[in-house]
Amino acid sequence: MKTKLTELVGVEHPIVQGGMQWVGRAELVSAVANAGGLGFITALTQPSPEALGREIARCREMTDKPFGVNVTNLPTINATPLAEYRQAVIEAGVRIVETVGRPEEAVAEFKPHGVTIIHKCVAVRHALKAEKLGVDAVSIDGFECAGRPGDDDVPGLVLIPAAADALTIPIIASGGFADGRGLVAALALGAHGINMGTRFLATKEAPIHENVKRRIVENDERETDLVYRPFRNTARVARNAISREVLEIQAGGGSFEDIKHLVAGSRGRIVYETGDLDAGIWSASLAQGIIHDIPDCHTLITRIMAEAEAVTERLRGFVG
Ligand SMILES: Cc1cc2nc3c(=O)[nH]c(=O)nc-3n(C[C@H](O)[C@H](O)[C@H](O)COP(=O)(O)O)c2cc1C
Repeated sequence: MKTKLTELVGVEHPIVQGGMQWVGRAELVSAVANAGGLGFITALTQPSPEALGREIARCREMTDKPFGVNVTNLPTINATPLAEYRQAVIEAGVRIVETVGRPEEAVAEFKPHGVTIIHKCVAVRHALKAEKLGVDAVSIDGFECAGRPGDDDVPGLVLIPAAADALTIPIIASGGFADGRGLVAALALGAHGINMGTRFLATKEAPIHENVKRRIVENDERETDLVYRPFRNTARVARNAISREVLEIQAGGGSFEDIKHLVAGSRGRIVYETGDLDAGIWSASLAQGIIHDIPDCHTLITRIMAEAEAVTERLRGFVG
């Protein structure tokens, strides 16, 4: 399947694995690349820009296919030297980045080096601004997504075609996608590919504890919480003891200071490493309701493409 996305980044299938804190490491990213998709190493999962350089090199040992690096520029508890991480990406000769947050610095630093920028955002107005600034494509995250859905609460069914109406650059539909039906729907809505996070968490190569993968399969589409809403920095996370505690504190008028000890990224990391599902908050989306197994990335991507073809065939039958 050729789309503006596959042409732009030189991959076989219009399927992207978005940046995932603590998860977007070489094992997963190379598996996605070898299966013909586009994976992103998550820059801030690495403890330093030097370590990021080593992770990129490690990924190159595992694949000769294109992959990229996600550089997330969102509020964090501890300050991060983002410019140094961006420099490490450039020095490593990475050709594709996924950016999030303010696009200005990323465009100014990456564009002179010819790096293809896919800017991930949650609103048409933000996508338009990024297009004007010169990014090459946008990934647009609907209300369904894991991570940061923003505060407008517009699901993909409207957000994706609204973005398609407004933009001229390629669009990647993100949030709630997990299978071939979703891929065909995204293409029908005007996107040129899909981005998935939660679906790739539940794959064999995701470098996280089996308990997390199994919980995603067990959970249905209702098992998430939206935290940080009062601070207008909403995050969608898997529902657990910690997310419930955070919501209670927020409902009682608590400030970010009151929940800071619960939501530290270092606690989320423990979930992935030890499989203790209540050790911290961890991201997952509504897509949990349509994830029923833990395949390897090759099986997953091949199946999505086969399903997409079968769905297209069936739709032809409807109109023919
Ligand atoms: C565990 C996890 C961690 C994530 N961390 C990041 C991140 O660090 N930066 C980022 O841009 N997006 C992050 N995301 C969002 C994904 O890249 C993607 O946009 C989102 O998961 C799409 O929604 P889906 O989960 O329904 O597929 C994360 C998602 C998950 C599931």
